[in-house]
Amino acid sequence: MAKIFGLGPNGKKNTLSGSAPSGDLTIGNYIGAVRTWDEIQEEYNSYFMVVDLHSITTRQDPKVLHERSLSFYAQYLACGLDPEKNVIFLQSHVAEHAELAWILSCFTPFGDLSRMTQFKDKSAKHPKNVNAGLFTYPVLMAADILLYDAHVVPVGEDQKQHLELTRDIAQRFNNDRGETFVVPEPMIPKVGARVMALQEPTRKMDKSDPNPANTVFLLDTPKAIEKKFKSATTDSGSEIRFADDKPGVSNLLQIHSSLSGQSIAELETHFQGKMYGHLKVEVAEVVTERLKPVREKYEQLMNDRDYLQTVMRKSAGRAREHAGRTLARVFEKMGFLAK
Ligand code: TRP
Repeated sequence: MAKIFGLGPNGKKNTLSGSAPSGDLTIGNYIGAVRTWDEIQEEYNSYFMVVDLHSITTRQDPKVLHERSLSFYAQYLACGLDPEKNVIFLQSHVAEHAELAWILSCFTPFGDLSRMTQFKDKSAKHPKNVNAGLFTYPVLMAADILLYDAHVVPVGEDQKQHLELTRDIAQRFNNDRGETFVVPEPMIPKVGARVMALQEPTRKMDKSDPNPANTVFLLDTPKAIEKKFKSATTDSGSEIRFADDKPGVSNLLQIHSSLSGQSIAELETHFQGKMYGHLKVEVAEVVTERLKPVREKYEQLMNDRDYLQTVMRKSAGRAREHAGRTLARVFEKMGFLAK
Protein backbone atom coordinates (compact mmCIF):
# COMPACT_ATOMS: atom_id res chain seq x y z
CA MET A 1 0.00 0.00 0.00
CA ALA A 2 1.20 3.50 -0.77
CA LYS A 3 2.55 5.33 2.23
CA ILE A 4 0.19 8.00 3.46
CA PHE A 5 2.08 11.21 4.00
CA GLY A 6 1.73 13.12 7.23
CA LEU A 7 0.14 10.48 9.49
CA GLY A 8 0.39 11.09 13.22
CA PRO A 9 2.45 8.81 15.53
CA ASN A 10 -0.72 6.80 16.25
CA GLY A 11 -1.12 6.06 12.53
CA LYS A 12 -4.30 8.12 12.32
CA LYS A 13 -5.10 10.67 9.65
CA ASN A 14 -5.54 14.32 10.59
CA THR A 15 -8.60 16.46 10.32
CA LEU A 16 -9.21 20.13 11.01
CA SER A 17 -12.45 22.08 11.40
CA GLY A 18 -12.79 25.78 11.82
CA SER A 19 -15.73 27.93 12.71
CA ALA A 20 -16.08 31.65 13.11
CA PRO A 21 -17.01 33.08 16.50
CA SER A 22 -20.23 34.68 15.30
CA GLY A 23 -23.80 34.12 16.44
CA ASP A 24 -24.48 31.34 18.93
CA LEU A 25 -24.65 27.60 18.39
CA THR A 26 -28.12 26.23 17.67
CA ILE A 27 -29.76 22.86 18.25
CA GLY A 28 -29.24 22.37 14.51
CA ASN A 29 -25.47 22.70 14.96
CA TYR A 30 -25.72 20.48 18.01
CA ILE A 31 -27.70 17.70 16.33
CA GLY A 32 -25.62 17.89 13.15
CA ALA A 33 -22.18 18.34 14.70
CA VAL A 34 -22.23 16.27 17.85
CA ARG A 35 -22.96 13.18 15.83
CA THR A 36 -19.95 13.76 13.53
CA TRP A 37 -17.72 14.78 16.45
CA ASP A 38 -18.14 11.41 18.14
CA GLU A 39 -16.90 9.78 14.99
CA ILE A 40 -14.16 12.33 14.28
CA GLN A 41 -12.76 12.15 17.82
CA GLU A 42 -12.17 8.42 17.51
CA GLU A 43 -11.03 8.11 13.92
CA TYR A 44 -8.72 11.08 13.44
CA ASN A 45 -6.15 13.28 15.08
CA SER A 46 -8.49 16.17 15.20
CA TYR A 47 -7.99 19.88 15.42
CA PHE A 48 -10.89 22.21 16.17
CA MET A 49 -10.23 25.87 15.77
CA VAL A 50 -12.09 29.08 16.56
CA VAL A 51 -11.13 31.26 13.60
CA ASP A 52 -10.82 34.63 15.26
CA LEU A 53 -8.22 35.86 12.73
CA HIS A 54 -10.64 35.22 9.89
CA SER A 55 -13.46 37.02 11.66
CA ILE A 56 -11.83 40.47 11.42
CA THR A 57 -12.28 40.82 7.66
CA THR A 58 -15.48 42.57 8.73
CA ARG A 59 -15.34 45.05 11.62
CA GLN A 60 -15.68 43.47 15.04
CA ASP A 61 -16.21 45.22 18.32
CA PRO A 62 -13.19 44.08 20.40
CA LYS A 63 -15.25 43.50 23.55
CA VAL A 64 -17.82 41.44 21.67
CA LEU A 65 -15.17 39.43 19.84
CA HIS A 66 -13.34 38.74 23.10
CA GLU A 67 -16.46 37.46 24.84
CA ARG A 68 -17.70 35.52 21.82
CA SER A 69 -14.42 33.72 21.30
CA LEU A 70 -14.40 32.61 24.91
CA SER A 71 -18.07 31.69 24.79
CA PHE A 72 -17.60 29.65 21.61
CA TYR A 73 -14.72 27.82 23.14
CA ALA A 74 -16.78 27.03 26.23
CA GLN A 75 -19.77 25.93 24.13
CA TYR A 76 -17.59 23.43 22.28
CA LEU A 77 -16.37 21.92 25.52
CA ALA A 78 -19.87 21.99 27.00
CA CYS A 79 -21.19 20.01 24.02
CA GLY A 80 -18.75 17.25 24.80
CA LEU A 81 -15.67 17.94 22.68
CA ASP A 82 -12.91 16.45 24.76
CA PRO A 83 -9.78 18.66 24.99
CA GLU A 84 -7.67 15.62 25.81
CA LYS A 85 -8.68 13.70 22.69
CA ASN A 86 -8.69 16.76 20.39
CA VAL A 87 -6.72 19.92 20.00
CA ILE A 88 -9.23 22.74 20.47
CA PHE A 89 -7.63 26.13 20.02
CA LEU A 90 -7.86 29.73 18.94
CA GLN A 91 -6.32 30.56 15.58
CA SER A 92 -4.70 33.76 16.87
CA HIS A 93 -2.75 31.76 19.47
CA VAL A 94 -0.68 30.04 16.80
CA ALA A 95 1.47 32.60 14.99
CA GLU A 96 2.41 30.05 12.32
CA HIS A 97 -0.97 30.62 10.63
CA ALA A 98 -0.10 34.18 9.71
CA GLU A 99 3.47 33.24 8.76
CA LEU A 100 2.49 30.43 6.43
CA ALA A 101 -0.32 32.53 4.96
CA TRP A 102 2.26 35.09 3.81
CA ILE A 103 4.41 32.46 2.14
CA LEU A 104 1.41 30.80 0.48
CA SER A 105 0.13 34.14 -0.76
CA CYS A 106 3.24 34.23 -2.94
CA PHE A 107 2.10 30.92 -4.46
CA THR A 108 -1.47 32.04 -5.11
CA PRO A 109 -2.39 33.75 -8.37
CA PHE A 110 -4.29 37.03 -8.04
CA GLY A 111 -6.75 35.76 -10.63
CA ASP A 112 -7.65 32.70 -8.54
CA LEU A 113 -8.53 34.86 -5.54
CA SER A 114 -10.57 37.22 -7.73
CA ARG A 115 -12.75 34.30 -8.75
CA MET A 116 -13.76 33.32 -5.21
CA THR A 117 -17.53 33.68 -4.93
CA GLN A 118 -17.38 34.45 -1.21
CA PHE A 119 -15.08 37.40 -1.92
CA LYS A 120 -17.44 38.67 -4.58
CA ASP A 121 -20.48 38.27 -2.31
CA LYS A 122 -18.86 39.83 0.73
CA SER A 123 -17.40 42.78 -1.14
CA ALA A 124 -20.82 43.48 -2.62
CA LYS A 125 -22.30 43.31 0.88
CA HIS A 126 -19.70 45.58 2.53
CA PRO A 127 -18.71 47.94 -0.32
CA LYS A 128 -17.16 50.42 2.15
CA ASN A 129 -14.75 47.89 3.60
CA VAL A 130 -13.31 45.79 0.80
CA ASN A 131 -10.00 45.23 2.56
CA ALA A 132 -7.02 43.14 1.47
CA GLY A 133 -7.79 40.63 4.22
CA LEU A 134 -11.15 39.89 2.66
CA PHE A 135 -9.30 39.16 -0.58
CA THR A 136 -6.59 36.95 0.93
CA TYR A 137 -8.98 35.23 3.37
CA PRO A 138 -8.78 31.90 1.46
CA VAL A 139 -4.96 31.90 1.67
CA LEU A 140 -5.16 32.07 5.45
CA MET A 141 -7.63 29.21 5.32
CA ALA A 142 -5.19 27.21 3.18
CA ALA A 143 -2.49 27.88 5.78
CA ASP A 144 -4.85 26.66 8.54
CA ILE A 145 -5.42 23.41 6.76
CA LEU A 146 -1.92 22.73 5.45
CA LEU A 147 -0.17 23.44 8.78
CA TYR A 148 -1.84 20.41 10.37
CA ASP A 149 -1.34 18.03 7.44
CA ALA A 150 -5.10 17.68 7.35
CA HIS A 151 -6.04 14.70 5.17
CA VAL A 152 -9.71 15.52 5.41
CA VAL A 153 -11.61 18.70 6.13
CA PRO A 154 -15.35 18.76 6.82
CA VAL A 155 -16.76 21.58 4.72
CA GLY A 156 -20.19 22.80 3.84
CA GLU A 157 -21.25 23.81 0.36
CA ASP A 158 -20.13 27.43 0.84
CA GLN A 159 -16.52 26.47 1.63
CA LYS A 160 -15.94 23.92 -1.13
CA GLN A 161 -14.36 26.48 -3.44
CA HIS A 162 -11.90 27.50 -0.71
CA LEU A 163 -10.91 23.90 -0.15
CA GLU A 164 -10.41 23.44 -3.88
CA LEU A 165 -8.11 26.48 -3.84
CA THR A 166 -6.21 25.00 -0.88
CA ARG A 167 -5.64 21.83 -2.89
CA ASP A 168 -4.38 23.89 -5.85
CA ILE A 169 -1.97 25.82 -3.63
CA ALA A 170 -0.67 22.64 -2.00
CA GLN A 171 -0.18 20.92 -5.35
CA ARG A 172 1.51 23.95 -6.86
CA PHE A 173 3.93 24.17 -3.94
CA ASN A 174 4.60 20.42 -3.99
CA ASN A 175 5.29 20.48 -7.74
CA ASP A 176 7.60 23.42 -7.37
CA ARG A 177 9.47 22.41 -4.19
CA GLY A 178 8.93 18.68 -3.77
CA GLU A 179 6.48 16.91 -1.43
CA THR A 180 5.79 19.28 1.43
CA PHE A 181 2.06 19.44 2.03
CA VAL A 182 -0.68 16.86 2.41
CA VAL A 183 -3.30 17.59 -0.26
CA PRO A 184 -6.58 17.64 1.71
CA GLU A 185 -9.83 15.95 0.71
CA PRO A 186 -13.27 17.32 1.57
CA MET A 187 -15.19 15.29 4.12
CA ILE A 188 -18.82 15.17 3.18
CA PRO A 189 -20.59 14.85 6.50
CA LYS A 190 -22.77 11.72 6.68
CA VAL A 191 -26.29 12.89 6.07
CA GLY A 192 -27.69 13.41 9.51
CA ALA A 193 -30.85 15.08 10.54
CA ARG A 194 -31.37 18.49 9.00
CA VAL A 195 -33.02 20.77 11.47
CA MET A 196 -35.28 23.34 9.84
CA ALA A 197 -36.31 26.86 10.90
CA LEU A 198 -39.28 26.71 13.27
CA GLN A 199 -41.31 29.40 11.53
CA GLU A 200 -40.33 28.40 7.98
CA PRO A 201 -39.73 24.66 8.12
CA THR A 202 -38.80 24.45 4.45
CA ARG A 203 -35.40 26.03 5.05
CA LYS A 204 -32.52 25.20 7.36
CA MET A 205 -32.23 26.56 10.89
CA ASP A 206 -29.50 29.18 10.74
CA LYS A 207 -27.57 30.71 13.65
CA SER A 208 -27.64 34.17 12.06
CA ASP A 209 -31.37 34.18 11.27
CA PRO A 210 -32.72 37.70 11.87
CA ASN A 211 -35.94 36.21 13.28
CA PRO A 212 -35.06 34.63 16.66
CA ALA A 213 -38.34 32.67 16.69
CA ASN A 214 -36.86 30.47 13.96
CA THR A 215 -33.91 29.31 15.97
CA VAL A 216 -33.36 27.47 19.24
CA PHE A 217 -29.97 28.26 20.70
CA LEU A 218 -28.01 25.95 22.96
CA LEU A 219 -28.01 28.59 25.63
CA ASP A 220 -31.72 29.47 25.46
CA THR A 221 -33.57 29.28 28.78
CA PRO A 222 -36.23 26.56 29.24
CA LYS A 223 -38.88 29.32 29.04
CA ALA A 224 -37.56 30.59 25.71
CA ILE A 225 -37.37 27.05 24.36
CA GLU A 226 -40.97 26.36 25.34
CA LYS A 227 -42.16 29.62 23.79
CA LYS A 228 -40.34 29.00 20.50
CA PHE A 229 -41.71 25.47 20.11
CA LYS A 230 -45.22 26.53 21.05
CA SER A 231 -45.21 29.11 18.28
CA ALA A 232 -43.59 26.80 15.72
CA THR A 233 -45.40 26.63 12.40
CA THR A 234 -47.33 23.41 11.91
CA ASP A 235 -49.21 22.15 8.92
CA SER A 236 -52.82 21.82 7.83
CA GLY A 237 -54.68 18.75 9.05
CA SER A 238 -54.21 17.38 12.54
CA GLU A 239 -52.41 14.08 12.13
CA ILE A 240 -48.93 13.73 13.59
CA ARG A 241 -46.86 11.95 10.98
CA PHE A 242 -43.60 12.37 9.11
CA ALA A 243 -44.37 13.37 5.52
CA ASP A 244 -43.29 15.70 2.73
CA ASP A 245 -46.56 17.60 2.92
CA LYS A 246 -46.03 18.14 6.66
CA PRO A 247 -42.69 19.97 6.91
CA GLY A 248 -43.47 21.61 10.26
CA VAL A 249 -44.61 18.46 12.03
CA SER A 250 -41.82 16.42 10.41
CA ASN A 251 -39.23 18.89 11.69
CA LEU A 252 -40.55 18.60 15.24
CA LEU A 253 -40.60 14.81 15.03
CA GLN A 254 -37.06 14.84 13.66
CA ILE A 255 -35.77 17.04 16.49
CA HIS A 256 -37.52 14.86 19.07
CA SER A 257 -36.16 11.67 17.54
CA SER A 258 -32.57 12.94 17.26
CA LEU A 259 -32.46 13.96 20.89
CA SER A 260 -34.64 11.31 22.56
CA GLY A 261 -33.29 8.41 20.52
CA GLN A 262 -36.81 7.17 19.76
CA SER A 263 -37.45 6.29 16.14
CA ILE A 264 -39.83 8.33 14.01
CA ALA A 265 -42.14 5.30 13.73
CA GLU A 266 -42.25 4.93 17.51
CA LEU A 267 -43.07 8.58 17.86
CA GLU A 268 -45.85 8.43 15.28
CA THR A 269 -47.45 5.62 17.26
CA HIS A 270 -46.92 7.46 20.53
CA PHE A 271 -48.64 10.58 19.17
CA GLN A 272 -51.53 8.78 17.49
CA GLY A 273 -54.80 10.56 18.23
CA LYS A 274 -52.99 13.41 20.00
CA MET A 275 -52.92 17.03 18.94
CA TYR A 276 -50.14 19.22 17.57
CA GLY A 277 -50.02 20.96 20.94
CA HIS A 278 -48.95 17.74 22.65
CA LEU A 279 -46.12 17.27 20.21
CA LYS A 280 -44.89 20.83 20.71
CA VAL A 281 -44.89 20.59 24.49
CA GLU A 282 -43.12 17.26 24.45
CA VAL A 283 -40.44 18.36 21.97
CA ALA A 284 -39.77 21.42 24.13
CA GLU A 285 -39.35 19.11 27.14
CA VAL A 286 -37.00 16.75 25.32
CA VAL A 287 -34.85 19.65 24.08
CA THR A 288 -34.78 21.33 27.50
CA GLU A 289 -33.86 18.09 29.21
CA ARG A 290 -31.10 17.33 26.75
CA LEU A 291 -29.63 20.82 26.83
CA LYS A 292 -29.72 21.11 30.61
CA PRO A 293 -26.32 19.50 31.21
CA VAL A 294 -24.85 21.45 28.28
CA ARG A 295 -26.04 24.73 29.74
CA GLU A 296 -24.86 23.78 33.22
CA LYS A 297 -21.44 22.78 31.96
CA TYR A 298 -21.26 26.01 29.98
CA GLU A 299 -22.10 28.15 33.03
CA GLN A 300 -19.56 26.28 35.09
CA LEU A 301 -16.86 26.83 32.46
CA MET A 302 -17.64 30.50 31.97
CA ASN A 303 -17.41 30.97 35.74
CA ASP A 304 -14.01 29.35 35.81
CA ARG A 305 -12.05 31.44 33.37
CA ASP A 306 -8.74 30.28 34.82
CA TYR A 307 -9.58 26.74 33.83
CA LEU A 308 -10.64 27.84 30.34
CA GLN A 309 -7.39 29.81 29.99
CA THR A 310 -5.33 26.83 31.07
CA VAL A 311 -6.99 24.45 28.61
CA MET A 312 -6.73 27.03 25.84
CA ARG A 313 -3.04 27.64 26.41
CA LYS A 314 -2.21 23.96 26.67
CA SER A 315 -4.13 23.21 23.49
CA ALA A 316 -2.46 26.09 21.64
CA GLY A 317 0.89 24.62 22.67
CA ARG A 318 -0.05 21.29 21.13
CA ALA A 319 -1.24 23.03 17.97
CA ARG A 320 2.02 25.01 17.76
CA GLU A 321 4.04 21.83 17.94
CA HIS A 322 2.42 20.45 14.80
CA ALA A 323 2.30 23.80 13.03
CA GLY A 324 5.93 24.50 13.89
CA ARG A 325 7.07 21.22 12.37
CA THR A 326 5.25 21.97 9.12
CA LEU A 327 6.56 25.52 8.97
CA ALA A 328 10.14 24.29 9.53
CA ARG A 329 9.68 22.02 6.51
CA VAL A 330 8.48 24.99 4.47
CA PHE A 331 11.37 27.18 5.68
CA GLU A 332 13.80 24.59 4.37
CA LYS A 333 12.05 24.45 0.99
CA MET A 334 12.09 28.24 0.77
CA GLY A 335 15.74 28.63 1.74
CA PHE A 336 14.95 30.55 4.94
CA LEU A 337 17.39 29.87 7.76
CA ALA A 338 16.03 27.56 10.49
CA LYS A 339 14.76 29.44 13.56
N1 TRP B 1 -13.87 29.81 6.17
C1 TRP B 1 -14.54 28.89 7.04
C2 TRP B 1 -16.01 29.31 7.17
O1 TRP B 1 -16.35 30.45 6.93
C3 TRP B 1 -13.91 28.86 8.41
C4 TRP B 1 -12.52 28.33 8.33
C5 TRP B 1 -11.37 29.03 8.46
C6 TRP B 1 -12.17 26.96 8.16
N2 TRP B 1 -10.30 28.18 8.39
C7 TRP B 1 -10.74 26.92 8.19
C8 TRP B 1 -12.90 25.78 7.97
C9 TRP B 1 -10.06 25.73 8.03
C10 TRP B 1 -12.21 24.58 7.81
C11 TRP B 1 -10.79 24.56 7.84
O2 TRP B 1 -16.82 28.48 7.53
